[in-house]
Amino acid sequence: MSTATTALAGKAARDVRFLDSTIGKKVVMAITGVILVGFVIGHLLGNLQVYQGPHALDVYAEKLKSLPPLLWGTRIVLLISVGLHIWSAVTLAGLQKRARPVGYVKLKPVTSTYASRTMYWSGPILALFIVYHLLHFTTGQAHPQFVEGKVHQNLVLGFQNPLVSASYILAMLMLGMHLYHGVWSMFQTVGVNHPKYTPMLKKLAAAVSAFLVIGNISIPISVLAGVIK
Ligand code: HEM
Repeated sequence: MSTATTALAGKAARDVRFLDSTIGKKVVMAITGVILVGFVIGHLLGNLQVYQGPHALDVYAEKLKSLPPLLWGTRIVLLISVGLHIWSAVTLAGLQKRARPVGYVKLKPVTSTYASRTMYWSGPILALFIVYHLLHFTTGQAHPQFVEGKVHQNLVLGFQNPLVSASYILAMLMLGMHLYHGVWSMFQTVGVNHPKYTPMLKKLAAAVSAFLVIGNISIPISVLAGVIK
């Protein structure tokens, strides 16, 4: 075997060991988390155009669909990110279980927050929400009055059903909790845990989550209140 081949094989083995480690998985989770938060921020900024009337949102959606490389590039990156995010969550849970095969008789958390303890159920619920959301507003199978290309109309008719709006509002509250802890743990994974910066970073994580929750929830509430028609 040549020296170059041996060096390459050594690097591949190191990469596999890194991905097998807790920190490797946390890094994968943090990178894919940043990509997903970036998408959710961009998605909300796009959706807020609903306040400018039907034309603005429909034209915006049309523009995105007229750029297939951008649309499909984004979809593929999102799909890979969601897949890797779930993979790292599931394998990290496996590592933790192996480290403590017998659960605590009575768990009295000392440092974990309510949001951090909810990650393993808010995550799967959000995954289910995304499947429902795609069938509702993108492909239309879960929307009785869906019309292809009429994004504003689909949105208004969809949210006029209080049960549909309530399920979105609940999912967004869960998203807020998941993001608050997720953004904060991402800072810890990259090594930012310092008495001077920690309070500021916690506030930043709370502000990003609050912006996303309030911005998203405002849409179904505005439809139910008749502000968006
Ligand atoms: C109240 C909050 C939300 C509203 C009103 C909303 C609205 C919409 C609408 C109208 C579409 C269809 C766009 C079109 O066909 O052009 C869409 C697509 C989508 N939404 Fe949302 N959304 C919300 C929250 C979210 C959240 C929290 C996520 C992710 C966690 C998300 C992920 C997606 C994805 C992945 C698509 C498909 C994009 C594509 O066509 O590839 N949405 N959303």
